Amino acid sequence: MVERISLAIRDLAVRFESDQGVVRALDGVSLDLHAGRTLGVVGESGCGKSVTARSILRLIDRPGRISGGRILLDPGTPAETDLAALDPESKRMRSVRGGRIGLIFQEPMTALSVHYTVGNQLIEAVVQHHAITPREARDRAVALLGDVGIPRPETRMAAYPFELSGGLRQRVGIAMALAGQPDILIADEPTTALDVTTQAQILTLLQRLQTEKRITLMLITHDMGVIAEMADEVAVMYLGRVVEAAPVEELFAAPRHPYTRALLRAVPTILAKPRQRLATIGGAVPHPGLRPTGCAFHPRCAESLGARCQQETPADVPPGQAGAACFLPGAAA
Ligand SMILES: Nc1ncnc2c1ncn2[C@@H]1O[C@H](COP(=O)(O)OP(=O)(O)O)[C@@H](O)[C@H]1O
Ligand SMILES: [Mg+2]
Repeated sequence: MVERISLAIRDLAVRFESDQGVVRALDGVSLDLHAGRTLGVVGESGCGKSVTARSILRLIDRPGRISGGRILLDPGTPAETDLAALDPESKRMRSVRGGRIGLIFQEPMTALSVHYTVGNQLIEAVVQHHAITPREARDRAVALLGDVGIPRPETRMAAYPFELSGGLRQRVGIAMALAGQPDILIADEPTTALDVTTQAQILTLLQRLQTEKRITLMLITHDMGVIAEMADEVAVMYLGRVVEAAPVEELFAAPRHPYTRALLRAVPTILAKPRQRLATIGGAVPHPGLRPTGCAFHPRCAESLGARCQQETPADVPPGQAGAACFLPGAAA
């Protein structure tokens, strides 16, 4: 059986231009979102995960712009649409944003206003995407709060976001993302701001919603533990590129890129003694404006081959294949 791909990103490049120069935030990113599955996107802070998410929804503002590549919705079908070629303010793009693709933020207040009740904001989000009566919109908003596991949804409609706990607020954020009945959800570090217990509850909620509503999920995180729990396929990003792509079992059993191995070493395990310090990756992610030559990871790589890694850039992983952008034997796809 050939799996349907809901969204295919090809060679996406995003630049931020300023007086200080050009920052290549994304430098040729390719990703596939398989229908009904979860793509985990992982990497340290500053690797381009949020820029990727915001590019898909055409939410990159000046001085940022998409400078190359394609973002294909429903690729290979008569309905195929390149979102990268649309005017961000066009009718089509506005209907895709929220209607086909929903976005869940790390901080739910990004999507919510402090000035209106949860109910009013949800009703507003519902009517934006559906021509229905106010009565129906209200019913749907209450149902959405129920869907995301908020107790006594009828009562919560009158609450203001600041009256809710962080966990409930993120549930409302998820309800907002679902208001237009999208079939693709992009969750950008949806649990990073939450305590461990609430984090687990939100991940369970996302899994349940995905199954019930047949949602295609792109889950962005810096946490390999979340990847292990949630992802079917994984893309590892470093400095605006995908450096490894693989099905989740394969990534954990036989990580190919030294960067992936380093990220995995930094994961707490049940075997680690409580006070034992976690391994961290030496050095910091360089600013994308100061991209190292060759393989951008080479200055931090414990397995660098020397001159070759410093001078030559490893080839990208071809879309749809498992492999790493790395010169080590056996790493490439
Ligand atoms: N508004 C902006 N202006 C200039 N540069 C930006 C802006 N937003 C993002 N960038 C650049 O893009 C890089 C990737 O950012 P981001 O996608 O937010 O990283 P991540 O989500 O992986 O932590 C940043 O390191 C930064 O250099
Ligand atoms: Mg981010």
